[in-house]
Amino acid sequence: MCGIVAYVGPKDAAPILLEGLQRLEYRGYDSAGLAVVNAKSLKTRKVKGRVADLAAAVPAKFKGTIGIGHTRWATHGAPSDVNAHPHLDQEQRIAVVHNGIIENADELRRRLEGEGVKFESETDSEVLSQLIGRMVKETESLREAVLRALKSVVGTYGIAVIDEQRPGEIVVARNGSPIVLGLGEKEMFAASDVAALIRYTRQVVHLEDGELAVIKADGFNTFTSDARETAKEPFTVDWDAGHYDNGGYEHYLLKEISEQPDTVARTLRGRIDDRFHIAHLGGLNMDAREIRSFRRVKIIGCGSAYYSGQMGAQLIEELARIPADAEPASEFRYRSPVVEPDTLYVAISQSGETYDTLVAVQELKRKGGRVLGIVNTVGSAIARETDGGIYLHAGPEVSVASTKAFISTAVAFALLALHLGRVRDLSPADGRRICEGLRRLPEQIKEILTLEDRIKELAKKYADAPGMMFVGRVRGYPVAREGAQKLKEISYVHAEAYPASELKHGPLALISPELPTVAIVPDDELLDKNLTTLGEIRARHGRILMVGHRTSEAADDCIVVPKNEVELDPILLTIPLQLFAYHAAVALDRDVDRPRNLAKSVTVE
Ligand code: AGP
Repeated sequence: MCGIVAYVGPKDAAPILLEGLQRLEYRGYDSAGLAVVNAKSLKTRKVKGRVADLAAAVPAKFKGTIGIGHTRWATHGAPSDVNAHPHLDQEQRIAVVHNGIIENADELRRRLEGEGVKFESETDSEVLSQLIGRMVKETESLREAVLRALKSVVGTYGIAVIDEQRPGEIVVARNGSPIVLGLGEKEMFAASDVAALIRYTRQVVHLEDGELAVIKADGFNTFTSDARETAKEPFTVDWDAGHYDNGGYEHYLLKEISEQPDTVARTLRGRIDDRFHIAHLGGLNMDAREIRSFRRVKIIGCGSAYYSGQMGAQLIEELARIPADAEPASEFRYRSPVVEPDTLYVAISQSGETYDTLVAVQELKRKGGRVLGIVNTVGSAIARETDGGIYLHAGPEVSVASTKAFISTAVAFALLALHLGRVRDLSPADGRRICEGLRRLPEQIKEILTLEDRIKELAKKYADAPGMMFVGRVRGYPVAREGAQKLKEISYVHAEAYPASELKHGPLALISPELPTVAIVPDDELLDKNLTTLGEIRARHGRILMVGHRTSEAADDCIVVPKNEVELDPILLTIPLQLFAYHAAVALDRDVDRPRNLAKSVTVE
């Protein structure tokens, strides 16, 4: 949530900051702002609206070779010019951009107001600029002022701070909200996400929670919260600027759906062993003996990551015969979970920065749990916190709605399930069957993508419905949940997912011609039961769009996808639902890549 970018070097900062903010807009997009320092004079521009509105509001003479920028996702105070970041201190000397939430902001605000400080905005973030503004007069360096101010703060933050009296340095700090430094040639960058830096450098350094950095054009120094210097090694990011372009597609979402044959191939690359029909997953850092010792698998993640975890739990139970279940990380972390030594915990996150998932992982680690990560973003906080794991290699996902990361996570789970299974009781023959099925996925996804025109027609036909029901049984249920999630988040059509088996225990009361049902009906051992459910919906005059491996007269419309192994079919059945949601959102003229109220990485509670 919210994006931060900062620059110090020989160049004009504003165009670099604006470019970085555009790359970060998917993280938050209700307002934007920047501040630069020129000849010891601080200038700011802030607007309610998009980065393009900010760019239009920045005058040509907005010069300065050091600056900070921000794109906001409102938590405290409505989106407005005044609530946009950067926030200044009362003397307009210090500018701060902040991601995260200051929990004791009200108390600090009261205290500062009691000391005569006048606040401009309703935000929690302004307490930081006001606090630092007061400290900076009493300290010898901006770093010390920031460290002292942060000592009175309770909450999460990623911040970047500039001081017009010290125009050669930026102080950044992290606690629960990501900050990454970018190393250039006689210039330095910082941001909340490598996306903002990638056009300028691929050499990056991630700050840890509690760490602070002082960046200058010729380098950086990092410190702990008690001012001890730390040593950090830069690493090279695999992704380049091209990965962040929309590739000529109208929306990032369509680009990301369309590139799934390649992204799935990348997730699989080098990980299938045809000799023993096993998966090579070196990053797990676990030997066969340890794998055999696990009696349960517990998967945690948020939103779509959680639904992919449900798909993963199903795969693990079927292929490895280990009891497995998934739970929202946002719930798990609050219920004081019992952490068992013989349970393998798996945390899923595309961004690797989702706060609820990160805190759940930290809680597990604190209690001695063994935690793997299935993560897309290399070097992200969750990747660093976990004991090992699987990188998706799906490339950056820019659109707020997750598509390719969801599918690659499900594929990574299939590999994990194969690996766990083959160490335990999965036969070589079944191992070979799954390996062959995995290899077929990229071509089969290509086939599904050729159905786009037909799916577009169907999306237009159903997009007017006030709501939609999604149903699936067992393997089909996570597919239904993810289908409903995609539709609601980008088209704003109310969509509810139910296990097909539960329909007659309540939700059947909702069925009418006005509430169409998307039914996930794979050709598996539950086919007849699913067709019976369709009959029950039909008998209540419900319209049905069936997604499966055959057509059926019980449905009004059918989308038929290629068949793989029953365990892997859910992966393929999800893809038409992504296209369906996309085209419904386009038909309803929604802002597909930046749906209202949402942000890509939820780095706050
Ligand atoms: C997916 O379409 C959503 N935008 C959202 O549910 C997302 O999957 C969730 O916030 C988790 O994000 P993560 O994978 O980056 O942790």
